[in-house]
Amino acid sequence: MKTQIGEDVHIAAAFLKAGELVAIPTETVYGLAGNALSEESVAKIYAAKNRPSFNPLILHIAQIAQLHNYAFVDEISMKLAKHFMPGPLTLLLPKKTTVPDITTAGSKKVAIRIPNQRLTLDLLAQLDFPLAAPSANPSGYISPTNAHHVMEGLHGKIPYILDGGNTTVGLESTICEVANNSIILHRAGSVTAAELSAVSGLEVIDAAAYHAPEISDHSTDSPATPGQLKSHYAPHTPLFMGNIEELIQSHIGKKIAVISFYNRYEGVENFILAPDHQLSTAASKLFATLRLIDQSNYDVILSEQFPNEGIGIAINDRISRAQFILKH
Ligand code: TXA
Ligand code: MG
Repeated sequence: MKTQIGEDVHIAAAFLKAGELVAIPTETVYGLAGNALSEESVAKIYAAKNRPSFNPLILHIAQIAQLHNYAFVDEISMKLAKHFMPGPLTLLLPKKTTVPDITTAGSKKVAIRIPNQRLTLDLLAQLDFPLAAPSANPSGYISPTNAHHVMEGLHGKIPYILDGGNTTVGLESTICEVANNSIILHRAGSVTAAELSAVSGLEVIDAAAYHAPEISDHSTDSPATPGQLKSHYAPHTPLFMGNIEELIQSHIGKKIAVISFYNRYEGVENFILAPDHQLSTAASKLFATLRLIDQSNYDVILSEQFPNEGIGIAINDRISRAQFILKH
């Protein structure tokens, strides 16, 4: 199959209506989209990405009112939707039977978001079905933040990549769930726990620390997010995060790439993410920089720990998942 890159929403819509897959731009990362209500299209997504069948997909819709077609929406979730959508927030909600089981990998919950990207909102408006779209990378590799990245991983596997330029946020959406009068944060993103708490008035609990109460209804317990495996966004080059001076000492003689917020280090190749000292700039550059380094001949990548505030929390989360893990 020949893969084309273009900006034509009509071509993208035609492929999707025919049951084919199209890579779509969002404000976070590019998604690999197919008709979320078609078992055949969804099966193609898992196959093209080589994604494990237990890992559910996010539904992308155009309008808040459409949430009710696919999920049961509680009051607080609606409040969050009204405040943050369209935008980089995904809500995990009890699913309706309109969504096929394969789309949620058998889960009774469905993850839904409204991407804040003009081309993709135009595209969704032309469709009478929602789009299931995981990040448009082969499973396990770094998420794509432009059409060229998608091409690197999926050429020959999909007919069309809708080109919306570089994504603005650069990290995958925040995923949260309202449960038992609190908010469970399943994935950090540019919408922060502090913002979720301020808008909802509820405490935000990290999914890793959350234990469902023993007596609870089955629609709200079990906070597992199957895609949040320990190593996930990994480059092929080993990556270590921590104090750069110390890490350099333990990698003497190697060709070293350093990822930093704005500092410059001696004797290594520097990849400074944010000369403007803005965490949002660093977030938008992180994945493209990891790819660039991975395609050059470095023995090792060393990364600073970023300030653990705002989107810096999500940056640290992604870098720590990209770290080299010794396999026994
Ligand atoms: O920003 C984003 O969310 C991007 C763009 C394309 O929208 N999408 C994205 O999709 O990051 P993906 O598939 O790479 O990550 C989705 C995450 C996975 O960790 C998955 O396990 C979790 O969401 N997820 C999806 N549906 C779920 C469900 N029903 N229950 C629990 N976790 C779910
Ligand atoms: Mg992904």
